[in-house]
Amino acid sequence: MSSAEEQPRLTSADPVERIAGLFATQGADEYLGEPVTQAAHMLQAAHRAELDGADGALVAAALLHDVGHFTGTVSGQDLMRGTDNRHSHTGADWLAQWFGPEVTEPVRLHVAAKRYLCAVEPGYADTLSPASVYTLGVQGGPMRGSELAEFTASPYAQAACRLRRWDDAAKDPAARPPPFDHFRELLAGLVRYPRRRLTRLPPADPARGR
Ligand SMILES: [Fe+2]
Repeated sequence: MSSAEEQPRLTSADPVERIAGLFATQGADEYLGEPVTQAAHMLQAAHRAELDGADGALVAAALLHDVGHFTGTVSGQDLMRGTDNRHSHTGADWLAQWFGPEVTEPVRLHVAAKRYLCAVEPGYADTLSPASVYTLGVQGGPMRGSELAEFTASPYAQAACRLRRWDDAAKDPAARPPPFDHFRELLAGLVRYPRRRLTRLPPADPARGR
């Protein structure tokens, strides 16, 4: 592999620019029945993670935790109409093109963390917004039986629970989190290339010459 392939240059299609574009466009949409936009909600979650002393990967996960509402084929509006859009999974899978599990797995588990906390922590469910209580039902309700052990077996379960609490609190219309640009350098530093094998040209056919 050449050095150019090992460290491809970022272009206008690089992930940070693509994510910035989503924040600037679909991020302006209302956040599923809450008094904030999607972008404001995710920025607030990341800001709360920063203030709470989270490491960079978990701050990024908080920033990106709802990106699946933008990238999935089933929208967040569908979720509010009763169809689970599995946005934690679609978002994590999309982010895995560029980011490692320290970013993607807390994103993947942030809905599971709500279901887990509702099952094990008395009073947690009472802290949820009406919209979050509604989506809890669409997403399977509180965990039961073997789901609990499966969740806690994940090395990212604790991170997902931390993210979940920032998520739950990030619905304040009066909050003034930093803008997306504040997180650009952090995100760029977490991008791992290449997450997928780069397309290679087929070798030249010696029978046909060059
Ligand atoms: Fe969220």
